[in-house]
Amino acid sequence: MKKFRSITLIVSILMLASMFLAACGPAATPVPEEAAPEGESLAVGIVLPTKDEPRWIQDETRFKEALTAAGYDVEILFSQGSSAKEKENVEALITKGVKVLIICPQDGAAAAAAAEVAREAGVKVISYDRLIRDTEAVDYYVTFDSVAVGAAQAQYLVDKASGTGNPLYLYAGASSDNNAFLFFEGAWNVLQPKIADGTFVIKNSSEAVALQDKATLTRDEQAKIIGQVTTNWDFNTAKGLAEANLTVATAADKGDVFILAPNDGTARAIADAFAADTDVTSYVVTGQDAEIASVQYIIDGKQSMTVLKDVRTLVADAIAAAVAYLEGGTPEETNAYNNGVIDVPAKPSVVVTVDKDNVKAAVIDSGYWPAEEFTGLE
Ligand code: BGC
Repeated sequence: MKKFRSITLIVSILMLASMFLAACGPAATPVPEEAAPEGESLAVGIVLPTKDEPRWIQDETRFKEALTAAGYDVEILFSQGSSAKEKENVEALITKGVKVLIICPQDGAAAAAAAEVAREAGVKVISYDRLIRDTEAVDYYVTFDSVAVGAAQAQYLVDKASGTGNPLYLYAGASSDNNAFLFFEGAWNVLQPKIADGTFVIKNSSEAVALQDKATLTRDEQAKIIGQVTTNWDFNTAKGLAEANLTVATAADKGDVFILAPNDGTARAIADAFAADTDVTSYVVTGQDAEIASVQYIIDGKQSMTVLKDVRTLVADAIAAAVAYLEGGTPEETNAYNNGVIDVPAKPSVVVTVDKDNVKAAVIDSGYWPAEEFTGLE
């Protein structure tokens, strides 16, 4: 078939493209003329969870940049928060003849059905960023080290705290997302000893307080805490929960507070709620994704840190894995993640802690975002 004609060329073009992207960043990515002949289709389909969060628009943009630079047309569909829509998207792509599916599930367990439909059709399934759970029909997992993300967030809070009795507010992602558990696990590993020694006092979760003497939590125990402090990855839910927590808390529970916020969107919502409370003297709040709005919040001193997960790397890894499958090979594996049924081979990428001190070097000088996006940069 024409589209499989020159896989070696595709690989070299993609490698060049990813090196080029890593060097230049998103704004200045012209399509190399010799590499963009006629927009041939690659037998790969991509399904992302929602357009309503900047994180996934970022992934779409980075995929388009990498694929356009390599001269390929690949369809990217969004599930808009619906597992039913996600399955329809997968079926549509199978009908169009994709051989590899790159899918970031809206709901990790619900996506098992879509993965199984793909497996039955002989399509390789690459779980992207979030793990598809409770099925054998996942071939590979392209991911960041999500336990390290949670650990980096918690370590930031620990490094900024001194003395004892510091008020700690915990927030988590959606319990339908396996990553929410990994982030929480990484954070708990670092925070729990500092709760046990009195550095922090949990203020907004009776479930976490009940489990605070346990260094390691089972998934069910994590689920109890996450169920109580979930933002559902939704800004309004995060804002409402933070406001409700602040309403119940006394002035003594406030003062200089420490907040574990799971990602940038929820961090901005939670930070705004804490900033508006006159009993809060100062706050340290975490995040992740290095979203443009949060990088600006960091520059402005409204969000303390974020965890940069370089989506360019994830995209390059996903494309390399897809090409490996199209060539009849298998992608590189350094780790495995259990999805409740099988150990899924993976190659997790490293993450970087970013705050006001290194924001320019880590986010702008690295080419991740162009300086023009921001005001007040020194
Ligand atoms: C991703 C995060 C993202 C969150 C909400 C997680 O699975 O790893 O980067 O912020 O979902 O969309």
